[in-house]
Amino acid sequence: KIFKDSEGASKIAAQEIAQIIKQKEKEGRPAVLGLATGSTPKKVYQELIRLHKEEGLSFKNVITFNLDEYHPMEPDAIQSYVRFMKEQLFDHIDIPSQNIHIPNGQLPLEEIPAFCKAYDEKIERLGGLDFQILGIGRNGHIGFNEPGSLINSKTRLMTLDMSTKLDASVDFGGLEKVPKRAITLGIEKIMNAKRVLLLAFGEHKAQSIVQAVEGPVTADIPASYLQQHQNAVFMIDEAAAANL
Ligand code: GLP
Repeated sequence: KIFKDSEGASKIAAQEIAQIIKQKEKEGRPAVLGLATGSTPKKVYQELIRLHKEEGLSFKNVITFNLDEYHPMEPDAIQSYVRFMKEQLFDHIDIPSQNIHIPNGQLPLEEIPAFCKAYDEKIERLGGLDFQILGIGRNGHIGFNEPGSLINSKTRLMTLDMSTKLDASVDFGGLEKVPKRAITLGIEKIMNAKRVLLLAFGEHKAQSIVQAVEGPVTADIPASYLQQHQNAVFMIDEAAAANL
């Protein structure tokens, strides 16, 4: 779906999330949401905060799993995704803190495999993700599933691509300061989500969008796997749609 601008797309995405939360509440079950960081979903979170404050949308019944976190990363560091989520969403809504899950960037290397396994198992026990919001990297990555990631990949420690590190270097104040790795939710749990919205805004996304939407389904462009998802929509602005 092509929108005039990111505001329009973000409002629709937030409304859809609100619908899912209300529907699950009616069913007496929690809404299990997969959340993303980066600049792209910020306006969706702003709209969710507005719906909470002005229209009484409650997150008491919401369980969230974030896609990824750099490793190593202190949770209060300026580039931390824990900090991002607090500032952009969690500090402004009524979600119980025990319902929030974000990959732990502080774990010693040897504890990461067990942590990742438990992360996937928790999602499974809840019946999978009801909803997943995604951005897209310059190289077609989703979460931090870099090119080469398999469609059935699990949550794991991923070595970051050079293009990803270059994009992140602005936030870290230099390429050498960007962590070499990150923990990311695997493609498998994203593909098993009941609904996926991928958002992309701006001309710098046009190349990865055309590859993901019109190119072959390939591990070289992990977002292209979504062509095989039954219920995924790309919500993009005109600039990101320029090459379609
Ligand atoms: C990072 C995140 C991704 C995000 C991407 C794009 O790599 N791990 O989840 O989609 O950046 O970021 P932005 O939305 O700022 O363009």
